[in-house]
Formats: sequence, C-alpha cells, structure tokens
Amino acid sequence: MLVTGGAGFIGANFVHYTLNHKPEFEVTVIDKLTYAGNPDNLKSILDRVNFVTGDICDRELMDKLVAETDIVVHFAAESHNDNSLRNPWPFVETNIIGTYNILEAVRKHDKRLHHISTDEVFGDLELDDPNRFTEETPYNPSSPYSSTKAGSDHLVRAWIRSFGIKATISNCSNNYGPYQHIEKFIPRQITNILSDIKPKLYGTGEQVRDWIHVDDHNSAVHLIIEKGKLGDTYIIGADNDHVNNKAVIELICELMGKGADWYEHVNDRPGHDMRYAMNSTKLRTELGWQPQYTDQGGMREGLQATIDWYSENDEWWQAEKAKVEAKYAEQGQ
Ligand code: NAD
Ligand code: DAU
Repeated sequence: MLVTGGAGFIGANFVHYTLNHKPEFEVTVIDKLTYAGNPDNLKSILDRVNFVTGDICDRELMDKLVAETDIVVHFAAESHNDNSLRNPWPFVETNIIGTYNILEAVRKHDKRLHHISTDEVFGDLELDDPNRFTEETPYNPSSPYSSTKAGSDHLVRAWIRSFGIKATISNCSNNYGPYQHIEKFIPRQITNILSDIKPKLYGTGEQVRDWIHVDDHNSAVHLIIEKGKLGDTYIIGADNDHVNNKAVIELICELMGKGADWYEHVNDRPGHDMRYAMNSTKLRTELGWQPQYTDQGGMREGLQATIDWYSENDEWWQAEKAKVEAKYAEQGQ
C-alpha cells in the first residue's frame, strides 16, 4: 500500500491504524514534509514503514512508486482553509496537479486508488436547513482549499468514467484526534489553554462542523478499500452536526478546568462556511460501518483523549506554537 501524505494528521493516524489492524499490508509512505508533515508522527513505527520524502507533483517519482504498489491511498494535500486565503498557489499545485500525476500513474500501471476528500466540496448549509450532504449533493465549494479539493475529485471521477480506473472516493467531515497540526481549531484551542492563552473563536461561533474522530474516519477508509464498489463515492460522518464552534470551545474550557467563557472572539474567516452535515447512510447500510466515538454529546470522550494527548506530548507542538500564533495575529485572529 502506498500512502501519500502519511506524515500528516490523518495519514499518520491511518498508517498507525493499518499496522495495528491490517498487518497484511506492507506500507510505503510518500510525503513532502511540508510545515504540516512531521516524521515524528510515525516515530514508533518507522522501522515497519518504507518512508520516502518526496513530492506528489514529481511525476517520475509517482510513476515509479505507483508501479511498485498494489493500492494507493491518497491523503496528501494542502489542507488548511486559512492558509489557502493567504496563498492559494500551493493548493492548486499539490491538490490538483499532484492528484493528476497519481491518476496518470494509476491508469498506466492499472492500480487501485482510494482518494480522500472532504465535505467542503459541497459548500455549506444554512443553520435551519434540515438537509445533510449525500453522495448526490452537487458541488459548490467556497474557498481556494475546497475548490482545489473539488477539482481533484472531478479529476478522479473523470478518470473513472473515461479511462475505467479502479478508484473510490470518500468525502469526510471535520476530523479531530492526535497529531493534528496546531493551526487547526481544536488543537489550537487546547494548546492555547496549555500555554495560558485564551481560546480564539472566529466571529459569532455559530458555525457547525460535523466532528468525527480520526480513527472512525480511518476505519471507514479501510472498509471502503475492502468492500467499496469501484467507481463509487462514500460520505463519511458520525452524526455530530448539532455542535457549533462556540459549544466546542466551551466544552474544551470545561474539560480543561477553565470557566466556560474563558475565550475571546476574533476576526471572522472571509467566506466562512456556516454548517456542514453528513448523511452517511450509504456507508452504514451497504458496508456496515459504525463509528466508535458516539458517546452522549458526541465528542466528550474523544475530546478528553485528545486533550490528554496534547498535554502529554508538549514537545511535539511547543516549538511551533509561537510561529502559528504570530501568523494568526497578523489577521487579527
Ligand atoms: P495535513 O495538512 O495534516 O497533512 C497533509 C500531509 O500531506 C502532510 O504530511 C504534508 O507534508 C503532505 N503533503 C503536502 N503537500 C505534499 C506534496 N506536494 N507531496 C507530498 N506530500 C505532501 O492534512 P490532514 O488534515 O491530515 O488531511 C489529509 C487529507 O484528508 C487531505 O486530503 C484533506 O483534504 C482530507 N480531509 C481532511 C479533513 C480534516 O478534518 N483534517 C477532513 C476531510 C478530508
Ligand atoms: O470539513 C472538513 C475540513 O475540515 C477539511 O477538509 C479541512 O482540511 C480541515 O482543515 C477542516 O476545515 P475547517 O476550516 O472546517 O477546520 P478548522 O479547524 O480550520 O476550523 C474549524 C472551525 O473553527 C471553522 O468554522 C473555523 C473555526 N475556527 C478555526 C480556528 C483555527 C475558530 O473559530 N477559531 C480558530 O482559531
């Protein structure tokens, strides 16, 4: 198995999950080690993984690596919306051209591909809209990040239809868990509190994200690899679409022993999507998937475990903290 972006948040968790639950796979990771990639995410298993430092935009390298594997699981991407608003080019390059290179290699060598995508390709919902995103929802992305992910999905769909490649796609909602870069919402707030900085809520905080624990995302990806219908798309979500950002910050404050209002409002994100909500009926009924993190309130147990992880691994994030906060401060965030 070739895992692109395996030193990033979800990719690294996926590699750990694979070695723990699916030891029949021999894993090669290709990762450019951008600011978001950290080989330490795989430190405890590096002797069991073939690690290649490289760029998915390097067509020859991708051709060689794909030729040597059975299946490609494609996580590598520029992934942060706020960065895409500051500088969209790396998003166009990695998310679109990188995916194109993988598709051409998969087509040439007739290999299986699973493409990892996001709910953000569907745009957003109003707070009072009863609908959730399904596999049939039309694409309507808002940000440079989500539009390049939509572009990559369209490429995969076109290569399936026009060239018959053996591929599946999954669109998942917001992940949380260990090894997530501290620029992202949940780890930013946890590490803020650990650094005695008040959590930062964009705008009013009424936006809703359909949070899922990263292990639940990755169990779904393995099921799709094993049993998914070639050519199909699967929505992945854990039915958490009732918790807004304000409530998440308040829960983090409570779990970390701060008053529920120990946070501050900062500038909103331009074009900020209001609400994501996923209907994962197809994955549940056709493939029998169930999330494991489903306690009351949806995320209390998973959040506590994530808080514990960042508390116990401060050497993993400390060196980056000041740099990340300085970048946000420039935007009044
Ligand atoms: P991340 O930013 O934490 O990790 C991305 C990884 O890709 C990093 O290790 C980085 O070094 C690597 N990378 C970037 N450009 C590369 C290139 N040109 N060549 C090789 N490697 C490169 O991202 P993440 O949050 O783990 O997201 C992984 C995938 O999951 C992305 O495709 C993202 O769109 C998708 N996704 C993320 C979420 C989420 O909530 N984080 C939800 C749904 C889907
Ligand atoms: O929905 C899936 C997507 O989830 C993935 O495709 C992306 O790769 C991933 O980064 C994530 O995108 P979001 O933009 O939703 O995640 P982020 O963690 O940046 O922000 C989550 C919400 O929290 C969003 O409404 C913005 C808000 N926010 C974010 C930060 C960093 C704050 O209120 N304060 C903050 O400090």
